Amino acid sequence: MNQHESRGAELGRTAVVIAGARPNFVKVAPLLTALERSGWRTLLVHTGQHYDAQMSDAFFADLGIREPDVNLKVGSGPHGAQTGRIMTGFEDWLGGQAADVVIVAGDVNSTVACTLVAAKSGIPVAHVEAGLRSFDRSMPEEVNRMVVDALATWLLTPSADANRNLIFEGVHPARIHCVGNIMADSLFAAVDRGKDNGTVERLGLPARFGIVTLHRPALVDDPVGLASTIRALDDVSNQVIPLVFPVHPRTRANLQRWGIESTSNLKLVDPLGYLDFIHLEARASIAITDSGGVQEETTCLGVPCLTLRANTERPITITEGTNRLIGLDPLAILSAAQDVLSSCRTFPRPALWDGQTAGRIVDALCQHVPAEAWAPYGDRTAEVVTPDVVQLQG
Ligand code: UD1
Ligand code: UDP
Repeated sequence: MNQHESRGAELGRTAVVIAGARPNFVKVAPLLTALERSGWRTLLVHTGQHYDAQMSDAFFADLGIREPDVNLKVGSGPHGAQTGRIMTGFEDWLGGQAADVVIVAGDVNSTVACTLVAAKSGIPVAHVEAGLRSFDRSMPEEVNRMVVDALATWLLTPSADANRNLIFEGVHPARIHCVGNIMADSLFAAVDRGKDNGTVERLGLPARFGIVTLHRPALVDDPVGLASTIRALDDVSNQVIPLVFPVHPRTRANLQRWGIESTSNLKLVDPLGYLDFIHLEARASIAITDSGGVQEETTCLGVPCLTLRANTERPITITEGTNRLIGLDPLAILSAAQDVLSSCRTFPRPALWDGQTAGRIVDALCQHVPAEAWAPYGDRTAEVVTPDVVQLQG
């Protein structure tokens, strides 16, 4: 029995776990298992931010997540409306619960909305995947990350760069626990389970293919950028390697609205369930993406990844992984694809991306919950302000 396997029961603690959007489901699945195995009482909240069967139910089935204790059914909408609906629904529900900790993951609107409610209710928050920064506040996720990390009591980070970001922002080190990458826990379990599930054959893909995902507003909400990116992917699929593209609903709506089409070697399909997607990702020769999770998973799998973004909050996937940032210029895609496919490099996997992160999170929580939301932690801003800054302020 691991250290964490009996501690929750001894403590008799309740954890409220928040999930709302596709990447959340992947992150909470191993955590729920580890918490429940260690005797914690868990309450699972689905905010309903994602609701299509292929964006939600498929993940519950593939990842073996139990029925949520509540589904707030907030649906889609502008940021303020969606965040507000989650806050209202979660506040009403949370008022009737005896919770020792609210656990949030990642950087989506469900994450920030539930953090705000819990913090104002005096319930401590644990943030899984804390400390990531793109340093680009035009990304809604960056705003969410900064707010969540300011309010959470326990900051559970995936890597040393995240620790450094938090320390630089003046966070007290006692709040930071480097636990590793929770997505790797789900990934390594799924690689085995999805090994022979036949998705490559079912989709009629050749033995050698690449995989594409795109859903960031900076790319897919721009008609000119989206059309030229699809043309560039067409070129890659016709000249370099056939591509399969499971299309996010945001992207699908925009492709239809603007009448953007692709050729047959760029195969557009509906969003895939988790096991089918991992089955393809693990066999792909290359991934082309703007997804955060896919940057991490390809690093774990050793699959070369081209990220169509100007920045990444996951720099370790570049320095210690297979990721290459190529920006938003579609003209860069073809030559970058040719280049990575002609070079053969291997990479070490980042430390603590080992499939054991959920256990480390439970260990940290067993050690520290319960706590007053704020009591043990002061900022140490004064200690990290450099003399130059003091001079400027003075
Ligand atoms: C959200 C997250 C993003 C994350 C992504 C993962 C925020 C601010 N953004 O972006 O960080 O990378 O999820 O996929 O939280 N839609 C459907 N069916 C669904 C869900 C969405 O049709 O089940 C459509 C709706 O038209 C909706 C649009 O997709 O307006 C966008 O959904 P939303 O959840 O607002 O943002 P995502 O782009 O999915
Ligand atoms: N994913 C999936 N099916 C798809 C596309 C992605 O199962 O059709 C999984 C992928 O393996 C990863 C997660 O969804 O685990 C990433 O979610 P997404 O790219 O939507 O969000 P992000 O990570 O960018 O926030």
